[in-house]
Amino acid sequence: MRADDAALAPSLFPLRIHELCWQAGGRRVLDGLSMELGGEGITILLGPNGAGKSVFLRTLCGLLEVDSGEIEWGGGSRPEFGVAMVFQQPKMLRDSVLANVELALRPQRVPAAERRQRARAVLDRVGLAHRADDGARGLSGGERQRLALARAWVTRPRLLLLDEPTASLDPSSVDAIERIVREIRTEGTRILMTTHNLGQATRLADDIVFIDAGRVCEHAPVQRFFARPASQAARLYIQGELPWRMAF
Ligand SMILES: Nc1ncnc2c1ncn2[C@@H]1O[C@H](COP(=O)(O)OP(=O)(O)OP(=O)(O)O)[C@@H](O)[C@H]1O
Ligand SMILES: [Mg+2]
Repeated sequence: MRADDAALAPSLFPLRIHELCWQAGGRRVLDGLSMELGGEGITILLGPNGAGKSVFLRTLCGLLEVDSGEIEWGGGSRPEFGVAMVFQQPKMLRDSVLANVELALRPQRVPAAERRQRARAVLDRVGLAHRADDGARGLSGGERQRLALARAWVTRPRLLLLDEPTASLDPSSVDAIERIVREIRTEGTRILMTTHNLGQATRLADDIVFIDAGRVCEHAPVQRFFARPASQAARLYIQGELPWRMAF
């Protein structure tokens, strides 16, 4: 089966995460983390450094096995395709921008001509068509993030995991990435991402999951989360990141 055969693909949603626990170096990094995600929209994971957000995303994309707990994908086990992840510092092949995107379609056994056509189309949408033949490793930080998004988007994922996709980018690059993320969502991809940029969270998120010490403290619609955070940990986090909010 081809991965983009959406009608035949098993549904990933609702995605039910039960009591994930993972220890490293004698410390509980994930400590009973649970949440449920429906099939639409953008969910942003917030929480202090070391809370376990990246570890959780790695667990979801199958890179890390937890000690206990369960992930139910639409009531079943993890599908072969349909989940893509973009890391904070994406690794690029020592090859052209175009080749980096085409390669992402190999596991799905997409024929070569279609790989090329889809790769060119997605590069156009992220504003990198003119860099298609350049070496991927020569791109700037913002361009690399757009290429990483293109590599994920070209696979037509049902769920896209983004780990701080705009960390250390300038404002116009942040804006470009946010525009692309919205477009990906509009095409029906469920997005789960982390950020420490609270302005970005208010611009992009439908709902916020606040994680502290390896557990979910609260899961709320974005407006309610920022207007009335329910947990003391979330209140402190918001105030620490955005002192000017105190005035409201
Ligand atoms: N492979 C690993 N081995 C040991 N400890 C790890 C490993 N990966 C992560 N950790 C630890 O797990 C904790 C959670 O890390 P994680 O990267 O998930 O935090 P985070 O919430 O993403 O933080 P940040 O906001 O800084 O990105 C940290 O204390 C980290 O050192
Ligand atoms: Mg992280």
